[in-house]
Order: sequence, then C-alpha cells, then structure tokens
Amino acid sequence: MTLAHLLVTGGAGFIGSNFVHHVVAHTDHTVTVLDKMTYAGNQASLADLPENRVDLVVGDIADAELVDGLFAKADAVVHYAAESHNDNSLHDPRPFLDTNIIGTYTLLEAARRHDTRLHHISTDEVYGDLELDDPARFTEDTPYNPSSPYSSTKAGSDLLVRAWVRSFGVRATISNCSNNYGPYQHVEKFIPRQITNVIRGIRPKLYGTGENVRDWIHADDHSSAVLTILDKGRMGETYLIGADGEKDNKTVVELILELMGEPRDAYDHVTDRAGHDLRYAIDSTKLRTELGWTPSYRDFEAGLAATIDWYRENESWWAPAKDGVEAFYASKGQ
Ligand SMILES: NC(=O)c1ccc[n+]([C@@H]2O[C@H](COP(=O)([O-])OP(=O)(O)OC[C@H]3O[C@@H](n4cnc5c(N)ncnc54)[C@H](O)[C@@H]3O)[C@@H](O)[C@H]2O)c1
Repeated sequence: MTLAHLLVTGGAGFIGSNFVHHVVAHTDHTVTVLDKMTYAGNQASLADLPENRVDLVVGDIADAELVDGLFAKADAVVHYAAESHNDNSLHDPRPFLDTNIIGTYTLLEAARRHDTRLHHISTDEVYGDLELDDPARFTEDTPYNPSSPYSSTKAGSDLLVRAWVRSFGVRATISNCSNNYGPYQHVEKFIPRQITNVIRGIRPKLYGTGENVRDWIHADDHSSAVLTILDKGRMGETYLIGADGEKDNKTVVELILELMGEPRDAYDHVTDRAGHDLRYAIDSTKLRTELGWTPSYRDFEAGLAATIDWYRENESWWAPAKDGVEAFYASKGQ
C-alpha cells in the first residue's frame, strides 16, 4: 500500500495497540485511533508513539456521525474494536451486541457511503471448538458454530461484513486469528493474569484440568499478517491467521512458572468456565501461499519469555487493573 492514513478502531486495546506500534515501526502510514476507552482501552499503550504519526479520538464505533467524519479522512480502516472477553460475555452479554454487532454495522454503512477499504478483525472462536483428539484444524471453509455470547456476536459481525460486500460492493476483507499473546494485554486474560499472579506472589489459577488447547500467536505476528492482507488481500476474502502454536493451558501455566523460576506445579485448579471450548487450531495455508505471509515468532517459549520480561518491566501499566480483576475472579470462585 502506498503512503496512507489509517483509521484503527480499538487501537488502545491489546491487539490494536500492538498493530499501531507495528505500523509506526514498519511503514510511513499515519494513524487515527478511534477507541471508546472502555476498561480494556489504555492510553498508556500508545504513550511512546510519535504525535505526528498517531492521534487518538475517544468515541464509540456505534456513533454514526463521529464515524462518518473519520471515514471521510481515512484511506483504509482496520477494525479491532470489540467487547472481547468471554467471561464478561457470560455475565453481561448486552455490550457485546452493542459494540460487536451495531458498532460493526455502523462502520459498514460508513464504508459503503465513502467507498472506504475496510479490514475486519475476527477470531477463530466463530468456528466453535474441536475435540481434543481430532487432528482437524479450522480452515476458511469450516462452518460457523460459535459457543459464547462473545463468539456469536463476532460471528454475526463477520456475516454482516460478507453481506455488505455482496449486497453493496463494500471493499472489505476479514481475518480470523487464533489466541494472541504479547505486551499490552489486559491482566484479565489467561497469560498476563498468570504472569502477574506470579510477580505478585499469588498462585496461578488453571480452569478445570487445563487440557483445553489454544493455538498461540504473538500479537506482532498478527499485526504483520493484517498489514499483508491490507496490502495484497483479495476483496471479499477471508484469511485465517495462525502460527502453529498449539499448547494446552496446563502446559502454558507450567511453562510460565518454570520461566519465572518457580516450581512447575505451584498453581491451583479452579472451577472451569461454562461452555469452555476444548480445542482451537488454525490452518493458515491460504494466507501463507496466496499472500506470502510467515510468522516471525516461531518459538513459543522465547515469545513467552519476552512477554514475561515486558510484564516485569511495566508493572505501572498493569498494576491499576490487577486488584479489581482478582476480586472479580475471586467472587466467581476462579
Ligand atoms: N485477544 C485475542 O487473542 C484475539 C484473537 C483473535 C481475534 N481477536 C479480535 O481482535 C480484536 C481486538 O481484541 P483485543 O484482545 O485487543 O481486545 P481488547 O478488549 O484488549 O481491546 C478492545 C478495544 O476496543 C475498544 N472498544 C470497545 N468497545 C468500543 C466501542 N464501542 N467503540 C470504540 N472502541 C471500543 C476498547 O476500549 C479496547 O481498547 C477483537 O475484535 C477481537 O475479537 C482477539
């Protein structure tokens, strides 16, 4: 893509802020972040970026007037904004409908009016889960079968994008990525929660037996894949993003403890999440062969060690949210 001005929704969240850092480091593009700054948005995640390259607009993607003005100035839009936490979606689904469905609809209508290129970020959770002993992996042809209010609203948003491409000729692409890890991830999420527990001297918590498998990818690899799709992706297409990082949750907790110098068994089992998906696994052949993308972080242990270092060095970033998150989980017996 030639020099462009990007509108990045949800750019103060975990993966969005990693993307903005990646864009600043690897392109000459300028970026406007549109973020509602919910509990998941953090201005500190964008603090060290150059002001002449990145600006932040605080607002809601469901605010049609605000969105319209920002689309008028953007060459392309990358849409990360979402309510993203499965556990929250089980306790209070409504914000998931407002942001993931109505918010995405609002962006699609603006893309239609302005004929703006849109890339929609989604998750492999739209495919439901695989049996632990099933060798299959998700592909672009796997039928949708979401389990939670979170994944069903993400599935709904993907279908809206497809309908706006087909019905109105909107120039959009979709990517469904596996579980991300890396810097700037909220402490409510599995890996940062366990790392910050160990830093605080709290024993890590494992849902159920921990046999659930997730396919981990470093957030920076997710960002390079999204830039590749923005550059070379075919309109209307869906691309799966994954880095062959399948690990069960028990292994991840044990690895965190080992890398942090603690005994591998120094954790507690807690009540499993309702409807907890068993296994996710991504086949990203299409993205790799058609668009030539490859991940840089091929060694999960090295990526995890770097992530542990980041949380050790950036306690001021995560400390304000930590006590509230642990109090919330404690109230649920988790
Ligand atoms: N975390 C993962 O492992 C993962 C994997 C695959 C796909 N995804 C997708 O990537 C995207 C980003 O996920 P994340 O983990 O960074 O989430 P996050 O919760 O860390 O960040 C979401 C951001 O969106 C903002 N936001 C929420 N509602 C908004 C609204 N109505 N208007 C404007 N901004 C709003 C929040 O303030 C926050 O900054 C989501 O679409 C998610 O479905 C995440």
